Amino acid sequence: MKIKKAVIPVGGLGTRFLPYTKVIPKEMLPIWDIPIIQFIIEEAINSGIDSILFVTSKEKYSIEDYFDRNFYLEYFLNKNKDKEKLDILNKIPQNFKIYSVRQKEARGLGDAILHAEDFISDDYFAVFLPDDLIFSKKPVIKQMIEVLEKYRKPVLGVERVPWKMVDAYGIIKPRMIAKRIFEIEDIVEKPKKNKAFSNLGVVGRYILPGNIFSYIKKTKPGVKGEIQITDSLRILMKEQGILAYEFEGIRCDTGNKYDYLLAILTYANMKKDLKNKIKKDIKKIFKIKI
Ligand code: UTP
Repeated sequence: MKIKKAVIPVGGLGTRFLPYTKVIPKEMLPIWDIPIIQFIIEEAINSGIDSILFVTSKEKYSIEDYFDRNFYLEYFLNKNKDKEKLDILNKIPQNFKIYSVRQKEARGLGDAILHAEDFISDDYFAVFLPDDLIFSKKPVIKQMIEVLEKYRKPVLGVERVPWKMVDAYGIIKPRMIAKRIFEIEDIVEKPKKNKAFSNLGVVGRYILPGNIFSYIKKTKPGVKGEIQITDSLRILMKEQGILAYEFEGIRCDTGNKYDYLLAILTYANMKKDLKNKIKKDIKKIFKIKI
């Protein structure tokens, strides 16, 4: 079963990153020299996806600009025969299609995904939340497509989160059916620790069915008038069943300042040329004796 389309909601206000996000989207924050959003697009491409839809909002146009060509820069680099930089500039294949639609008001993730209704005509599609940057050998969405191919059901990416953090996630009640794969028996958004079914939290990777939109339309607005995708998934789970997949990879939550810093360090730790230098400098900064 091929998945060709993905939706990438970037319509949130990013208030945890203010004042930076007043004019610059958090998805454009760099991990070393690469904007977070480029890692996400590369994960999509390496999973076989050939077109994506950004659900954007005001002040987010730099994301679309970033994936457009910059003829002036190309002309300049061509003139200087700087092939290395030209290659860096044109990493996204020309035939990879990028569409966008604007969410006029940040009315929640469910509402953002609903904006993709006209874009999706397939049985299943992927959703990436760029806050969750996942470093893995095999792209996480590709791992999840393999689960879909075997079980033919929607799949949510899940991770064991620290128990003290369960109130920050959609938490599932799991029934294990194979290694890393669970049938979801219930799902609740941000439960208190003593009410949580497990510590398996839903993170920003979803394989959703093409009929999810009818479930979102049935979902009543929750806190702050936002349409929570977890509420729509709960209805879908009861009617069609949903699986959870505990993916392989290191996830960094780049949506908050502290974990964003850890994401950069995690990346540096994977780069031979950076690893030792950073280690030494950190020891120096924190006055750790060698
Ligand atoms: P978050 O809950 O992280 O909200 O959204 P946010 O606005 O991005 O950030 P904070 O909490 O104010 O700092 C999770 C994902 O859903 C998207 C966001 O862009 C992010 O990718 N989203 C959220 C939308 O596209 N539209 C919305 O109305 C809400």
